[in-house]
Amino acid sequence: MIAAALVVAAGSGERLGAAEPKALVACGGKPLVSWSLAALAAVPQITQIVVALPPGVDPGVLPSGVTAVVGGAERSHSVRAALAAVEGEPDLVLVHDAARPLITAEEIARVLQAAAQPGVDGAVAAAPVSDTIKAIGPDGVTVLRTLERGALVAVQTPQVFRRSVLERVLEQPDTIVGAATDDASLVEVAGGTVVVVPTSPENLKVTTPLDLQLAELLLRQRSAAT
Ligand code: CTP
Ligand code: MG
Repeated sequence: MIAAALVVAAGSGERLGAAEPKALVACGGKPLVSWSLAALAAVPQITQIVVALPPGVDPGVLPSGVTAVVGGAERSHSVRAALAAVEGEPDLVLVHDAARPLITAEEIARVLQAAAQPGVDGAVAAAPVSDTIKAIGPDGVTVLRTLERGALVAVQTPQVFRRSVLERVLEQPDTIVGAATDDASLVEVAGGTVVVVPTSPENLKVTTPLDLQLAELLLRQRSAAT
Protein backbone atom coordinates (compact mmCIF):
# COMPACT_ATOMS: atom_id res chain seq x y z
CA MET A 1 0.00 0.00 0.00
CA ILE A 2 1.37 3.41 -0.92
CA ALA A 3 -0.05 6.81 -0.06
CA ALA A 4 0.29 10.46 -1.02
CA ALA A 5 -0.01 13.08 1.72
CA LEU A 6 -1.70 16.44 1.15
CA VAL A 7 -0.93 19.10 3.74
CA VAL A 8 -3.32 22.05 3.69
CA ALA A 9 -1.43 25.17 4.72
CA ALA A 10 -3.14 27.81 2.58
CA GLY A 11 -5.28 29.47 5.26
CA SER A 12 -4.53 33.00 6.42
CA GLY A 13 -4.90 32.26 10.12
CA GLU A 14 -7.31 35.09 10.81
CA ARG A 15 -8.15 33.90 14.33
CA LEU A 16 -4.46 33.59 15.23
CA GLY A 17 -3.96 37.14 14.06
CA ALA A 18 -0.24 36.86 13.22
CA ALA A 19 1.47 39.04 10.61
CA GLU A 20 2.23 36.03 8.41
CA PRO A 21 0.15 33.02 7.29
CA LYS A 22 -0.48 30.61 10.17
CA ALA A 23 1.47 27.70 8.65
CA LEU A 24 4.64 29.84 8.68
CA VAL A 25 4.33 31.19 12.21
CA ALA A 26 7.20 30.04 14.44
CA CYS A 27 6.24 27.31 16.90
CA GLY A 28 8.84 25.54 19.01
CA GLY A 29 11.63 27.10 16.97
CA LYS A 30 10.43 26.32 13.45
CA PRO A 31 7.53 27.12 11.12
CA LEU A 32 4.30 25.44 12.27
CA VAL A 33 3.98 23.37 9.07
CA SER A 34 7.48 21.87 9.49
CA TRP A 35 6.39 19.64 12.37
CA SER A 36 3.71 17.86 10.32
CA LEU A 37 6.07 17.52 7.36
CA ALA A 38 8.67 15.83 9.57
CA ALA A 39 6.10 13.37 10.97
CA LEU A 40 4.78 12.52 7.49
CA ALA A 41 8.31 12.08 6.11
CA ALA A 42 8.96 9.44 8.78
CA VAL A 43 6.16 7.17 7.49
CA PRO A 44 7.50 4.68 4.90
CA GLN A 45 4.19 4.20 3.02
CA ILE A 46 4.03 7.90 2.12
CA THR A 47 5.78 8.36 -1.22
CA GLN A 48 4.83 11.99 -2.01
CA ILE A 49 3.97 15.03 0.08
CA VAL A 50 2.08 17.95 -1.51
CA VAL A 51 1.62 21.20 0.43
CA ALA A 52 -1.02 23.81 -0.46
CA LEU A 53 0.40 27.25 0.34
CA PRO A 54 -1.30 30.66 0.36
CA PRO A 55 -0.90 32.65 -2.87
CA GLY A 56 2.35 34.60 -2.95
CA VAL A 57 4.27 32.44 -0.45
CA ASP A 58 7.69 31.34 -1.74
CA PRO A 59 7.73 27.51 -1.98
CA GLY A 60 11.37 27.78 -0.90
CA VAL A 61 10.09 27.81 2.71
CA LEU A 62 9.38 24.07 2.32
CA PRO A 63 11.96 21.28 2.64
CA SER A 64 13.29 19.83 -0.62
CA GLY A 65 11.38 16.89 -2.05
CA VAL A 66 8.00 18.35 -1.10
CA THR A 67 5.64 19.45 -3.91
CA ALA A 68 4.14 22.95 -3.48
CA VAL A 69 0.84 24.15 -4.96
CA VAL A 70 -1.21 27.31 -4.47
CA GLY A 71 -4.27 26.69 -2.28
CA GLY A 72 -7.84 27.87 -2.86
CA ALA A 73 -10.43 30.10 -1.22
CA GLU A 74 -11.83 27.40 1.09
CA ARG A 75 -10.02 24.52 2.74
CA SER A 76 -11.57 21.92 0.43
CA HIS A 77 -10.43 23.91 -2.58
CA SER A 78 -6.90 23.67 -1.22
CA VAL A 79 -7.33 19.90 -0.84
CA ARG A 80 -8.48 19.74 -4.47
CA ALA A 81 -5.49 21.78 -5.69
CA ALA A 82 -3.08 19.53 -3.80
CA LEU A 83 -4.75 16.36 -5.06
CA ALA A 84 -4.28 17.55 -8.64
CA ALA A 85 -0.50 17.54 -8.08
CA VAL A 86 -0.36 13.90 -6.94
CA GLU A 87 1.84 11.82 -9.23
CA GLY A 88 1.19 8.20 -10.17
CA GLU A 89 -1.69 6.25 -8.67
CA PRO A 90 -1.24 5.81 -4.91
CA ASP A 91 -3.85 3.57 -3.26
CA LEU A 92 -4.55 6.08 -0.51
CA VAL A 93 -4.53 9.85 -0.10
CA LEU A 94 -4.01 11.39 3.33
CA VAL A 95 -5.13 14.94 4.13
CA HIS A 96 -3.60 16.79 7.08
CA ASP A 97 -3.95 20.31 8.50
CA ALA A 98 -0.65 22.18 8.73
CA ALA A 99 -2.21 23.64 11.86
CA ARG A 100 -1.85 20.29 13.73
CA PRO A 101 1.87 20.12 14.53
CA LEU A 102 1.56 17.47 17.25
CA ILE A 103 0.63 14.56 15.01
CA THR A 104 3.04 11.63 15.31
CA ALA A 105 4.32 9.18 12.68
CA GLU A 106 2.84 6.34 14.73
CA GLU A 107 -0.65 7.91 14.64
CA ILE A 108 -0.35 8.60 10.90
CA ALA A 109 0.56 4.95 10.28
CA ARG A 110 -2.48 3.78 12.28
CA VAL A 111 -4.89 5.95 10.27
CA LEU A 112 -3.36 4.70 6.99
CA GLN A 113 -3.73 1.11 8.19
CA ALA A 114 -7.41 1.60 9.06
CA ALA A 115 -8.16 3.18 5.66
CA ALA A 116 -6.55 0.23 3.87
CA GLN A 117 -8.99 -2.31 5.37
CA PRO A 118 -11.50 -3.99 3.02
CA GLY A 119 -14.87 -2.22 2.82
CA VAL A 120 -13.47 1.04 4.19
CA ASP A 121 -13.47 4.23 2.10
CA GLY A 122 -11.93 6.54 4.65
CA ALA A 123 -10.41 6.66 8.14
CA VAL A 124 -10.20 9.75 10.33
CA ALA A 125 -8.24 10.60 13.43
CA ALA A 126 -10.61 11.23 16.33
CA ALA A 127 -10.36 12.00 20.03
CA PRO A 128 -12.95 11.42 22.76
CA VAL A 129 -15.21 14.35 23.62
CA SER A 130 -14.81 15.55 27.20
CA ASP A 131 -17.42 18.30 27.25
CA THR A 132 -21.14 17.61 27.24
CA ILE A 133 -22.42 18.73 23.84
CA LYS A 134 -25.85 20.30 23.39
CA ALA A 135 -27.72 21.11 20.19
CA ILE A 136 -29.12 24.63 20.03
CA GLY A 137 -31.87 26.11 17.91
CA PRO A 138 -31.79 28.73 15.15
CA ASP A 139 -31.84 31.59 17.70
CA GLY A 140 -28.38 30.51 18.82
CA VAL A 141 -29.26 30.31 22.53
CA THR A 142 -32.14 27.90 23.14
CA VAL A 143 -31.07 24.35 23.93
CA LEU A 144 -32.93 21.75 21.88
CA ARG A 145 -31.36 18.65 23.41
CA THR A 146 -28.25 17.11 24.94
CA LEU A 147 -26.36 14.70 22.72
CA GLU A 148 -25.19 11.36 24.10
CA ARG A 149 -21.49 11.90 24.73
CA GLY A 150 -20.54 8.23 24.31
CA ALA A 151 -21.77 8.38 20.72
CA LEU A 152 -19.67 11.45 19.83
CA VAL A 153 -16.05 11.94 18.79
CA ALA A 154 -14.09 15.07 17.93
CA VAL A 155 -12.51 14.53 14.54
CA GLN A 156 -9.10 15.79 13.62
CA THR A 157 -6.73 15.19 10.75
CA PRO A 158 -5.12 13.10 9.31
CA GLN A 159 -8.04 11.84 7.27
CA VAL A 160 -7.16 9.10 4.78
CA PHE A 161 -9.24 8.01 1.78
CA ARG A 162 -9.06 5.63 -1.13
CA ARG A 163 -7.73 7.87 -3.87
CA SER A 164 -10.61 7.16 -6.27
CA VAL A 165 -13.19 8.01 -3.60
CA LEU A 166 -11.58 11.35 -2.70
CA GLU A 167 -11.20 12.23 -6.38
CA ARG A 168 -14.87 11.53 -7.01
CA VAL A 169 -16.24 13.63 -4.13
CA LEU A 170 -13.96 16.56 -4.96
CA GLU A 171 -15.24 16.60 -8.54
CA GLN A 172 -18.56 17.96 -7.23
CA PRO A 173 -19.46 21.65 -7.80
CA ASP A 174 -17.43 24.32 -5.99
CA THR A 175 -20.30 25.32 -3.70
CA ILE A 176 -20.74 21.76 -2.33
CA VAL A 177 -17.01 21.17 -1.95
CA GLY A 178 -16.38 24.62 -0.45
CA ALA A 179 -19.06 24.20 2.22
CA ALA A 180 -17.52 21.01 3.65
CA THR A 181 -15.67 21.56 6.96
CA ASP A 182 -13.82 18.27 6.57
CA ASP A 183 -13.18 15.85 3.74
CA ALA A 184 -14.79 12.87 5.39
CA SER A 185 -18.19 14.60 5.43
CA LEU A 186 -18.16 14.66 1.62
CA VAL A 187 -17.44 10.92 1.58
CA GLU A 188 -20.15 10.23 4.20
CA VAL A 189 -22.80 12.13 2.23
CA ALA A 190 -21.80 10.19 -0.89
CA GLY A 191 -22.58 6.95 1.00
CA GLY A 192 -18.99 5.95 1.74
CA THR A 193 -17.89 4.06 4.86
CA VAL A 194 -15.71 6.16 7.15
CA VAL A 195 -14.16 4.79 10.35
CA VAL A 196 -12.54 6.64 13.25
CA VAL A 197 -9.10 5.92 14.67
CA PRO A 198 -8.41 7.03 18.25
CA THR A 199 -5.66 9.64 18.45
CA SER A 200 -4.38 11.83 21.23
CA PRO A 201 -6.23 14.99 22.24
CA GLU A 202 -2.70 16.48 22.03
CA ASN A 203 -3.22 16.51 18.25
CA LEU A 204 -4.85 19.92 18.67
CA LYS A 205 -5.46 22.42 15.90
CA VAL A 206 -3.65 25.71 16.41
CA THR A 207 -6.46 28.22 15.95
CA THR A 208 -5.94 30.96 18.54
CA PRO A 209 -2.86 32.45 20.27
CA LEU A 210 -3.65 30.26 23.30
CA ASP A 211 -3.48 27.12 21.13
CA LEU A 212 -0.12 28.26 19.78
CA GLN A 213 1.26 28.63 23.32
CA LEU A 214 -0.03 25.19 24.28
CA ALA A 215 1.39 23.55 21.13
CA GLU A 216 4.74 25.18 21.79
CA LEU A 217 4.80 23.87 25.35
CA LEU A 218 3.92 20.31 24.26
CA LEU A 219 6.45 20.31 21.40
CA ARG A 220 9.22 21.54 23.71
CA GLN A 221 8.34 18.83 26.26
CA ARG A 222 8.57 16.20 23.52
CA SER A 223 11.93 17.47 22.30
CA ALA A 224 13.22 17.43 25.87
CA ALA A 225 12.02 13.84 26.33
CA THR A 226 13.93 12.47 23.33
N1 CTP B 1 -6.64 25.90 4.86
C1 CTP B 1 -6.25 25.87 3.52
N2 CTP B 1 -6.91 26.65 2.61
C2 CTP B 1 -7.90 27.46 3.00
C3 CTP B 1 -8.32 27.50 4.34
C4 CTP B 1 -7.66 26.70 5.27
O1 CTP B 1 -5.31 25.16 3.18
N3 CTP B 1 -8.49 28.21 2.08
C5 CTP B 1 -5.91 25.08 5.85
C6 CTP B 1 -5.23 25.92 6.92
O2 CTP B 1 -3.97 26.39 6.45
C7 CTP B 1 -5.14 24.96 8.09
C8 CTP B 1 -6.32 24.01 7.86
O3 CTP B 1 -6.80 24.25 6.54
O4 CTP B 1 -3.94 24.23 8.10
C9 CTP B 1 -7.42 24.21 8.91
O5 CTP B 1 -8.00 25.50 8.76
P1 CTP B 1 -8.06 26.62 9.89
O6 CTP B 1 -7.52 26.10 11.16
O7 CTP B 1 -9.41 27.24 9.85
O8 CTP B 1 -6.93 27.67 9.37
P2 CTP B 1 -7.14 29.11 8.76
O9 CTP B 1 -8.28 29.10 7.80
O10 CTP B 1 -5.81 29.55 8.28
O11 CTP B 1 -7.50 29.95 10.07
P3 CTP B 1 -8.73 31.01 10.23
O12 CTP B 1 -9.98 30.22 9.94
O13 CTP B 1 -8.60 31.47 11.64
O14 CTP B 1 -8.46 32.10 9.22
MG1 MG C 1 -10.30 28.65 8.47
